[in-house]
Amino acid sequence: MSTDSSDVSKLIEVEDITLRFGGVTAINGVGFHVNEGELFAVIGPNGAGKTSIFNSISQVYRPQEGDIRWKGKSIMGERPDAVARLGIARTFQNIALFGQMTVIDNILTGRHIRMKNNWLTGMLWLGPAKKEEMENRERVEDIIDFLEINEWRKHPVALLPYGIQKRVELGRALAMDPELLLLDEPVAGMNLEETEDMARFILDIREELGISMILVEHDMGLVMDIADRILVVDFGKPIGTGLPHEIQANPDVIAAYLGADFSDEISVD
Ligand SMILES: Nc1ncnc2c1ncn2[C@@H]1O[C@H](COP(=O)(O)OP(=O)(O)O)[C@@H](O)[C@H]1O
Ligand SMILES: [Mg+2]
Repeated sequence: MSTDSSDVSKLIEVEDITLRFGGVTAINGVGFHVNEGELFAVIGPNGAGKTSIFNSISQVYRPQEGDIRWKGKSIMGERPDAVARLGIARTFQNIALFGQMTVIDNILTGRHIRMKNNWLTGMLWLGPAKKEEMENRERVEDIIDFLEINEWRKHPVALLPYGIQKRVELGRALAMDPELLLLDEPVAGMNLEETEDMARFILDIREELGISMILVEHDMGLVMDIADRILVVDFGKPIGTGLPHEIQANPDVIAAYLGADFSDEISVD
């Protein structure tokens, strides 16, 4: 475990991790890094180990081999909430929101990780807690504006269209003020319009908020269009890393994705 040798422009370094569940090897020697400001994508078919990579970064799963470093320092063995507090937020493949709660309150839960005051001062609504709560609510309103979900702010999320729910989940992750955002199949199940909206928000998050991202997808189209660099995984193994045009020309990737339609790119204008 090295703690000092790393390049500071590398936000996160995943070094040769292997994760096994009994006889199943979910991740088999995967390594990559994400630079500051980068939109890095991990693609591969279902079961390739993509979500397991996110769970390893979050330390929900503990890889048996390899190392994961945040700004040069190993995070192996940290608790998931400690990893989140370092500045690593995520969205989930399946929506994980509080259905009966409003959009505002769901996004507000993302602020809890940043709260300085404890539950007691919070409950009693004492001075510092009140100020903090006001600041949190302002921050939530900024995020609601940014994601253009104003009209739904007081609606219970369970009643909202799927594409809007996914946007609320993104809002909750943004409420954590992350430096790195992990997006697990953010457009899965979306129609074309919802997909184009989400692609635009992902690009805006990088351009306007300067947040680095790892985008997991099984569909080539979105990734080829918006990612800076791409890692392709198949059966837990890395089969290629590079710029989108390099990935499209990589014979191993083409073999794994035989029949894939690389022209299936979407417009985000
Ligand atoms: N908690 C778990 N217990 C056992 N096997 C798991 C667990 N999580 C993932 N796996 C297995 O690891 C492999 C990779 O799964 P996953 O990371 O979810 O792939 P992807 O996200 O690329 O579809 C699959 O074979 C899956 O069944
Ligand atoms: Mg997955």
